[in-house]
Amino acid sequence: EKGTYPHYMLKEIDEQPFVIRNIITKYKDADDSIKLDEQVRQAVIDADRIYIIAAGTSYHAGLVGKELIEKIANIPVETHIASEFLYNMPLLSKKPLFIFISQSGETADSRGVLVNVKKLGHKTLTITNVPGSTLSREADHTLHTYAGPEIAVASTKAYTAQMAVLAIMAVDAARAAGVEMDFDPLQELGIVANAMEIFTEQKDVLEEIARDYLSVARSCFFIGRSMDYHVCLEGALKLKEISYIQAEGFAGGELKHGTIALIEEGTPVVGLATQEAVHLNLRGNMKEVVARGAYPCMISMEGFAEEDDKIVIPKVHDYLTPLVSVIPMQLISYYAALHRGCDVDKPRNLAKSVTVE
Ligand code: M6R
Repeated sequence: EKGTYPHYMLKEIDEQPFVIRNIITKYKDADDSIKLDEQVRQAVIDADRIYIIAAGTSYHAGLVGKELIEKIANIPVETHIASEFLYNMPLLSKKPLFIFISQSGETADSRGVLVNVKKLGHKTLTITNVPGSTLSREADHTLHTYAGPEIAVASTKAYTAQMAVLAIMAVDAARAAGVEMDFDPLQELGIVANAMEIFTEQKDVLEEIARDYLSVARSCFFIGRSMDYHVCLEGALKLKEISYIQAEGFAGGELKHGTIALIEEGTPVVGLATQEAVHLNLRGNMKEVVARGAYPCMISMEGFAEEDDKIVIPKVHDYLTPLVSVIPMQLISYYAALHRGCDVDKPRNLAKSVTVE
């Protein structure tokens, strides 16, 4: 039930710090090490390549998952849109593991791929919020995201939960394979949960930004590089699906190869820079759009924030910034939709589970 909340979406955004703490508890062993099904661990480390299959927001979590698994566990990963993979399968490696990411566990496009790869005899794992779901029952293994029921059509807490579980899974596999690392996901996720609260407790600032930037905007761009680029895709999806503002996420460096032609006087552009290696490049891209009239909204991270940045996220580990930087984007989308009189929880033309192809 949504209790005192006006919308499920707002409630579910607010729940994210608790969801992350719940995941830490569920995946922590008595000796503080990671608790994960031995068979899942084995399936991950046995794979010579992982294929992540998903749709929508879960696909965006999968893009972050690729970065995490490759950087942490050293296993090559490809992330695919389920409906594309279904009719256009790439060449597969010799020992693939298929990971299906799905909040509902019922997405028909992903199920189609699962059925096909099972016929080929490949190993499968589903990461889902609904353990009894079709994708969970039909895969060899399941990892639970423990986010609690997600009712709003716009996915919020399921996304951050999926990325948390992917980070834990990646570190577990890395440790099992003897890879040295100083990244402790259970500890770092605790820092993430606290950082999330900064935004869920200061909604007025984000409501003001939504009003200022998006009350009358026709379009909006989100630009970022590397990890931030994936979050920009998610930020744009959130905004378009509930506020009906035309929104696009772009890789910061790609804009000048065409899309920059769309920037007009006053076009809102959200810039996301949480990755130390590329934050200056992204600032350069922001200057390019500002020179063409864009109205900039910079989101950066403590440690390399600048005075004019609108939103500064607290310092969290490089691998986990998406879990925090998406929160202001979710809240800005929520308030933009609210101010524009949209049906936040049930946007037009959309269903919570997409069970048809
Ligand atoms: O249940 P799933 O995670 O498989 O759903 C996938 C997409 O349909 C879903 O993420 C959709 O994009 C959301 N409405 C996004 O907010």
